[in-house]
Amino acid sequence: MKVLILGIDGYLGWPLALRLARRGHEVIGIDNLSTRKFSQEVGADSAFPLPEPEERVKEAKKHLGVDITFYKGDVTDYPFLKEIVSKHKPDAIVHFAEQRSAPYSMIDMDHSVFTVINNEVGTLRVIQAILEVDPTIHLLKMGTMGEYGTPSFNIPESIYVDAIVNGMKDRIIVPRKGSSIYHITKIHDTDFILYFNEISKELTVTDIMQGPVYGTRTEEIIEETLRTRFDFDEVWGTVVNRFCVEAIIGQPLTVYGKGGQTRGFLSLEDSMQALTLLLEHPPKQGEYRVANQFAEIYSVRQIAQIVKKAGEELGLDVQIGNYPNPRVEAEEHYYNPEIKILPSLGFYPKKRLPEEVKIMIKDLLPYKERLERYRHVIPPKTKWRKK
Ligand SMILES: NC(=O)c1ccc[n+]([C@@H]2O[C@H](COP(=O)([O-])OP(=O)(O)OC[C@H]3O[C@@H](n4cnc5c(N)ncnc54)[C@H](O)[C@@H]3O)[C@@H](O)[C@H]2O)c1
Repeated sequence: MKVLILGIDGYLGWPLALRLARRGHEVIGIDNLSTRKFSQEVGADSAFPLPEPEERVKEAKKHLGVDITFYKGDVTDYPFLKEIVSKHKPDAIVHFAEQRSAPYSMIDMDHSVFTVINNEVGTLRVIQAILEVDPTIHLLKMGTMGEYGTPSFNIPESIYVDAIVNGMKDRIIVPRKGSSIYHITKIHDTDFILYFNEISKELTVTDIMQGPVYGTRTEEIIEETLRTRFDFDEVWGTVVNRFCVEAIIGQPLTVYGKGGQTRGFLSLEDSMQALTLLLEHPPKQGEYRVANQFAEIYSVRQIAQIVKKAGEELGLDVQIGNYPNPRVEAEEHYYNPEIKILPSLGFYPKKRLPEEVKIMIKDLLPYKERLERYRHVIPPKTKWRKK
């Protein structure tokens, strides 16, 4: 299979490129390197120093014997995107190329507007390129479990549900509620893709609702030079990754508010397993498939306890902090999402959080000095409510 990965330089994009190439697929990738730039904008950087994309491609060839084609460019630049899609005619396009930080989208109105334009225009251009070049291309679009918010109903794994609204029966789109401008762009992505799937009757889609990913390794990351980026600051670092770095540098774990925020998490390795299964088992031509993607459900408080235990077993002194919540979100709530598509394709989580955080801390420990330099960008500063 020939796969075009949009956002190949990112946390998920690079390990997916390695995984697919090692499985014998042809891999082409596009990235505008914006996450590198935006992480520096907030004074942060990846925990692991990142080689330039051209270097990464060479390292993949050297250590794994695989060929990956990289193009620097922007997905919102339609002539560029169309040229690459027309030139390579991929069987599938993986769309990761979005501004993916909720706090970044909430810094101020300029960052909100940028996030909307980058993510929504990007998605529309990807749809356009597929419909104009070859409507048989399978679009694997990365959404987020955060599209659903934290409702008091069981979250189904489908786009429509039967509902009674004002006493009348109807089939409605599963209600969604974003908790940041970033999350709202993901909801709009889903609306756009579903709309073009319905009017074209051709667009073939897997819309993945993924939970937060954690981890430093996959089966292919066998050398330092093959590592993927790893963010840990308050803007770009997701909770488990951030807590592991905090445990190392002696920063009390930044639990926001009551810490009852509950989500479905999965390891980087299991994310790769899931994405590969979805690509290798595409839906029928013209089908719109939603896949919820997570392995284990935890609250932030439970994660803090797991990281504290793992850190202490490795000889670290780990404190759990308590910070006023900078976000506007439920801190205690019901959470019960369905997951059946991935298990039906043979997905089983290979990693469990308690064991994996120990491996992560061990992988990050040699970088302690580098991590110390970014101590000041870890405590929460980006507030949802400005007053
Ligand atoms: N990491 C997670 O825990 C997680 C969880 C759920 C969903 N997601 C989604 O998965 C996708 C990948 O996430 P990630 O963690 O790898 O993020 P990332 O920021 O590390 O990777 C995204 C990549 O896309 C690139 N990019 C952004 N806008 C672009 C554009 N207009 N043109 C070209 N390249 C562009 C960035 O430079 C970056 O390399 C994102 O869409 C994100 O919203 C991630």
